[in-house]
Amino acid sequence: MTIEVYSKKDSKIKITFPTKKNGSAVAKLIQCCPPLDLNSTYHYLIQSHYFNQTCSVAFEGEKVIAFVSGFINPANKNCLFIWQVAIDESYRGKGLGIELIEFLLDQNKDVNTIETSITKNNIASRRMFQKIVKKYEATMYEEILFDKYEDFSNEHESEILVTISQIK
Ligand SMILES: CC(C)(COP(=O)(O)OP(=O)(O)OC[C@H]1O[C@@H](n2cnc3c(N)ncnc32)[C@H](O)[C@@H]1OP(=O)(O)O)[C@@H](O)C(=O)NCCC(=O)NCCS
Repeated sequence: MTIEVYSKKDSKIKITFPTKKNGSAVAKLIQCCPPLDLNSTYHYLIQSHYFNQTCSVAFEGEKVIAFVSGFINPANKNCLFIWQVAIDESYRGKGLGIELIEFLLDQNKDVNTIETSITKNNIASRRMFQKIVKKYEATMYEEILFDKYEDFSNEHESEILVTISQIK
């Protein structure tokens, strides 16, 4: 059975789980969404096929306009790690990222914690997650996950692990 919902802000936008048919379009979307790291199309096919119950995609008509990738933390089955959130530039600022994440919370009822990683300068991403914290009266905790020098050999900004707990 296909599970799909329509955006509360714009009923032309459909939100659902991705399938492997979307992997290639997702890679193209990510390419247009700096500062996200572009992974291979094969990577997005794997996410859209094997991890699709913890990923969400938004369409306007046939066009992929937004994507969230995630997985259940292997060390904690109640924790959804959100990896990449990508909203086509012309659809930003309307809460669509939060709607895609809420779709995943609705479909994964055991999840009570979100982990994500954010670079220091990504204000828009930080704001989006802060709004989730406020809406769900959750708590937020931050620590370095992958360090610019120790882990990225000075080739990438540090990724800060943001843990949002008690979201239900
Ligand atoms: C970060 C991102 C996912 C947020 O998605 P969104 O659906 O636009 O989120 P929101 O509507 O909740 O807005 C969040 C913040 O984005 C910023 N924003 C608002 N309108 C914007 C626009 N038109 N363009 C860019 N950023 C905008 C604001 O700082 C806003 O916070 P505010 O509402 O307190 O002012 C989106 O900007 C994006 O895809 N960015 C590029 C990729 C990326 O950085 N992903 C996150 C890392 S995983």
